This record gives sequence, structure tokens and C-alpha cells, in this order.
Amino acid sequence: MNHTVTVRPCTADDRDAVVTLWSACGLVVPWNDPAADFALALSKTSSTVLAALAGDRIVATAMVGQDGHRGWIYYLAVDPALQGQGLGRRMVSEAESWLAAAGMPKVQLLVRETNQRVLAFYERLGYARSPVTMMQKWLTNPSP
Ligand SMILES: CC(C)(COP(=O)(O)OP(=O)(O)OC[C@H]1O[C@@H](n2cnc3c(N)ncnc32)[C@H](O)[C@@H]1OP(=O)(O)O)[C@@H](O)C(=O)NCCC(=O)NCCS
Repeated sequence: MNHTVTVRPCTADDRDAVVTLWSACGLVVPWNDPAADFALALSKTSSTVLAALAGDRIVATAMVGQDGHRGWIYYLAVDPALQGQGLGRRMVSEAESWLAAAGMPKVQLLVRETNQRVLAFYERLGYARSPVTMMQKWLTNPSP
């Protein structure tokens, strides 16, 4: 499967397929609007959503973005029917390449406390836990 997929940046037309995939992967939460997140990432030159295609079907994604200091990965998702075949590793590698090409020396990502089982996946790919506490504040009203 991994050799037969191609990876490219998404276009606006990919939105519905991507949001469907994110929902199937349990990544959609009430306080984030996935369609708005997708559109925002595509609207900046410092971010995008990478998609893996098997034929014309989107089977995996990774949102990437850089803030001028660090690179970030969000919405890493592999079609549940195709997990365990190397697509997650491939998408992280593609995201890292995108961020390295953007000049970022380091890549970071956030894991929800409710998704602890994914930690072993990232550790397998060379990621380490970071002794930091994230703090946050909305600058807009969050989605209902
Ligand atoms: C996490 C996710 C992207 C992994 O994708 P995947 O295609 O199943 O992973 P891969 O097949 O590429 O696995 C890569 C490596 O990690 C290992 N791995 C995968 N899941 C693992 C787990 N839960 N524990 C330990 N190792 C794991 C694999 O054995 C493989 O090792 P190898 O390449 O050395 O043989 C996928 O399960 C997913 O979409 N999950 C739901 C969404 C999600 O949680 N996203 C992350 C949000 S932070």
C-alpha cells in the first residue's frame, strides 16, 4: 500500500474527504471546526494539509505548519482500514520534509490526554516526550 500512494498538498476541493477522514479517526472535537481548520491551514503559505492518495481516494493526512520558530504537525490521520501498514510513518516523514524545507530545526506535536496510546507510535518514530506544560487562550470564540 505504501508504495502505491502519492502524497501532495490538499486543495480546497479535498475538504469534505479530509473532514470525513478526520472524523473516522476520532480527531474531531466539539471545540474545533475541522472544515475551518482545513481552510485556515490552506490559506497561509506557512502551513498546509498533506494528503496521501490511493488512486483518487484520500487515505491519510498530516497538517503541517511553521510559526517562524518551530514546525508543528496536527491532524495526523490514517484511514482506519489501512492503519498498521506504514502510512502513518510515511505521513510523518513527509511532514518532517516539508518543515525541514521551510527551514525549521525542530518539529513538535500535541497529543490529547485521551489519546495516550498514540505515544508509542511517535516514540517508535524517534519522538520524545517534552517536559513542558502547554497553556492556551482563545482569541476568537471557540466553536460551540
Ligand atoms: C496514529 C496513526 C496515524 C498511526 O498510523 P499507522 O499507519 O497505523 O502507523 P504505521 O503503520 O505507519 O506505524 C509506524 C510504526 O509505528 C508502530 N506503531 C504503530 N502504532 C503503534 C502503537 N500503538 N504502539 C506501538 N507502536 C506502534 C508500527 O509498528 C510501526 O513500526 P515499524 O515501522 O518500525 O514497523 C493511526 O493509527 C491513526 O490515524 N490513528 C488515529 C488518529 C490519531 O490518533 N492521530 C494522532 C493524533 S496525535
